[in-house]
Amino acid sequence: MSVGRIQISEKMRSSSARVAGDLIHWLPSTKYIFAGFASIGLAIAGGAADIESSIGKIEDSCSSLSQTLKGFTSDGNVMGTALKLQGEAKDLLSIINDGKDTASNAENLSSADSDKLEDSVNSLSKSVFTLLDGFVEKKPVFQKAVLGGSADGLVEKDLQDLKGATDGLGKALENIVTGQLKKDAPQILSDLDKHFDDAIKAFSD
Ligand SMILES: *[C@@H]1O[C@H](CO)[C@@H](O)[C@H](O)[C@H]1NC(C)=O
Repeated sequence: MSVGRIQISEKMRSSSARVAGDLIHWLPSTKYIFAGFASIGLAIAGGAADIESSIGKIEDSCSSLSQTLKGFTSDGNVMGTALKLQGEAKDLLSIINDGKDTASNAENLSSADSDKLEDSVNSLSKSVFTLLDGFVEKKPVFQKAVLGGSADGLVEKDLQDLKGATDGLGKALENIVTGQLKKDAPQILSDLDKHFDDAIKAFSD
């Protein structure tokens, strides 16, 4: 196993070193250390399972943001919720970028694995559409929330960032899949782009 395949984020590096230290103490063989890494859930790139799990995290983050948007109303805590939405949008952005890194570092998937991902990808697209519709619906509330300037300008920027990250993830996935998902990928990506563009336009008017 090459070390290049093991991906450990900066944040996890120090705790990984501690965990590795403990494992070295208990388990003399490096084979067990790698098994230990996998079982404690550090991201080992390369498998469809890692990608599936990234997509799941992105979907959870989208749903949580959509949920917060639902509660964003003019008669509620406009400023507080607008700030929370900003924070959640940044979280989503970083989770999508993590997914892009996972997909970029993965090897080409088998056709069986590609087929398994198709449902997840379609389900993620739907969550993104729901999220974008949620933002557009709440534009009047964002216009009432003043964070430095009116918050709708911040949303436009968030949406542009999210679009860029989603494109990056989509292209990284398109590169490594095969079969039907490879065939469907351009259409899925162009539908996502169009939805993003419509939402960005709504906030730039
Ligand atoms: C992976 O797939 C891409 C096309 O999607 C191809 O260009 C590349 O050569 C493949 N890599 C390997 C290692 O097979």
